[in-house]
Amino acid sequence: MNLELQIPNHIGIIMDGNGRWAQEKGMPRTMGHKSAIKTLKELCLHMADVGVHYVSLYAFSTENFKREKSEVDFLMDLFISSFQKEFQFLIEKDVRVCFSGRREPLPEKVLQAMDKIVEDTKNNQKFTLNICLNYGSHAEIVDTTRKICEKYHKGEISLEDITEEYIQKNLYQDLPPLDFVIRTSGELRISNFMLYQASYAEFYFPKVYFPDFTVEEFDKAIVEYHKRNRRFGGIQK
Ligand code: IPE
Ligand code: IPE
Ligand code: MG
Repeated sequence: MNLELQIPNHIGIIMDGNGRWAQEKGMPRTMGHKSAIKTLKELCLHMADVGVHYVSLYAFSTENFKREKSEVDFLMDLFISSFQKEFQFLIEKDVRVCFSGRREPLPEKVLQAMDKIVEDTKNNQKFTLNICLNYGSHAEIVDTTRKICEKYHKGEISLEDITEEYIQKNLYQDLPPLDFVIRTSGELRISNFMLYQASYAEFYFPKVYFPDFTVEEFDKAIVEYHKRNRRFGGIQK
């Protein structure tokens, strides 16, 4: 990869299209989710090499519980096995894992596997992998508002303490704003992903389904990011 390219500090990836990827090959949707894990492993290794600092991965939305029970159960089992096996390499690769989302109603075994990988990687420094699992931006805004109101009611903060920075600090994770959001599969929407964090992000919508989002596709995305002119409400330089 061209080292002159600007690397976004915080990348969001909406990993979409697993089901269609499998269905178009005549396989059950679940095979698409399985295949996505392989793609993700390669991407993580690559991202560690290119010097990304934060990556937020949309793995399961609060709305995804509307899916058939068999698919939800498959995904929950896949999360457990991924955190216990496939993603163990993150420990050696110096990647810190954290999660964003509601714990309720995730199964206890999933929560245990999540807590374990967080604990095992808590001192790692290469980059932060924030996995959005049972995540929804609306739920995050509700949960953050409740957290802040509670502190206000206890007299721990005053109204003036509630600033933009304070709200950010009280989101599920205190991470820098998103610079670049990639959604695979050609859908042109963000489906309740990090509304607060993505306020000035650049967006990129490659047509490939997530299992085909290879490191080459990732590099193409970075080339595209490099061409963008971010103004943040100011004037063109
Ligand atoms: C994304 O792929 C993975 C999850 C939402 C868990 P999908 O399962 O949404 O695949 P499509 O969009 O139906 O093809
Ligand atoms: C968004 O994909 C959620 C994840 C990728 C985890 P969906 O497939 O659930 O989104 P919609 O339903 O097409 O908007
Ligand atoms: Mg989808």
